[in-house]
Amino acid sequence: MNTEINAAVAVVGPGAIGTTVAAMLHEVGRTPSLCGRTLRDHLTLLEGSHSMTVPGPVRTSPKQITRTADLVFLAVKATQIEAAAEWLAVLVGPETVVCVLQNGIEQVQRVGPHAPRGRIIPAVVWFPAQAQSDASVRLRGDVRLTLPDTAASRVVAEALQGTRCAVDLAADFSALAWRKLVQNAVAGLMALTHRRSGMFSRADIAELTLAYARECLAVARAEGAELGDEVPQEILEKFQAAPTDMSTSILTDREAGRPLEWDIRNGVVARRGRAHGISTPISDVLLPLLAAASDGPG
Ligand SMILES: NC(=O)c1ccc[n+]([C@@H]2O[C@H](COP(=O)([O-])OP(=O)(O)OC[C@H]3O[C@@H](n4cnc5c(N)ncnc54)[C@H](OP(=O)(O)O)[C@@H]3O)[C@@H](O)[C@H]2O)c1
Repeated sequence: MNTEINAAVAVVGPGAIGTTVAAMLHEVGRTPSLCGRTLRDHLTLLEGSHSMTVPGPVRTSPKQITRTADLVFLAVKATQIEAAAEWLAVLVGPETVVCVLQNGIEQVQRVGPHAPRGRIIPAVVWFPAQAQSDASVRLRGDVRLTLPDTAASRVVAEALQGTRCAVDLAADFSALAWRKLVQNAVAGLMALTHRRSGMFSRADIAELTLAYARECLAVARAEGAELGDEVPQEILEKFQAAPTDMSTSILTDREAGRPLEWDIRNGVVARRGRAHGISTPISDVLLPLLAAASDGPG
């Protein structure tokens, strides 16, 4: 196996999602360069009883970067974009594609100002992966991304071709991204109750979930996402069918006392709603609670 580091492809933020994508590239001999916050000499991906090592080191200073990359996978949390901007400043040139592996629908607006020369591509990340206490990452499920069907996305698809990371280029990307966002917004309720999926079997929570998902859906449609009336019920049923102890990353972050991605997962609904003159009374109650849970004080 060729383990020469390919400086043309960089992963910024080698956490749960970044480690998974790095491992998929390494597995076919296209080991990317790694840019992170914590010094590590390698990354570890766990799948069932199988463990894969991705050679590093994880670079921790942008001063170590000597050339721009052709492709950057940005996989920091949305709350960490500004802190990671110094990496984008050295990695992104006029030809660079930046594929943003983050939840939400605002990747281009949020990352674009920090990479004005690059071509920013949002992604819907479909696979669940979780960083463990020893920094290894446990992958659960098949690795799959959906990107908008554009020329820059094809650079990403080519880089991942032949790996176990499937890439779909979707003409209806906005609808897919908004549908995932509605699901993520609903999952925010779990961060407020400190409860796992089992809570969706309560009639009162089910009623709130449907009402909130309908509020999100109205905004999504005003944004041009073609989503049907069935979406809120389908999302509720998905949570109800999940194992009762299934968590969600916003609840995991809450339990760990980390900042929450509430603004890109929930705040966006109220912000976009306001822009379209749509009232969002449920968001208006939830958002201060999520913001305070995330950022305090107290
Ligand atoms: N995990 C999932 O299953 C999943 C599924 C779908 C979507 N997503 C979305 O994917 C995005 C990434 O999530 P994640 O779960 O992979 O998060 P994560 O495990 O916390 O990974 C974030 C990584 O970024 C690093 N980082 C933080 N600040 C940095 C900086 N200034 N420069 C460089 N690296 C920095 C972190 O370093 P440290 O190791 O030092 O903290 C960590 O390695 C989020 O938007 C999330 O909502 C996640």
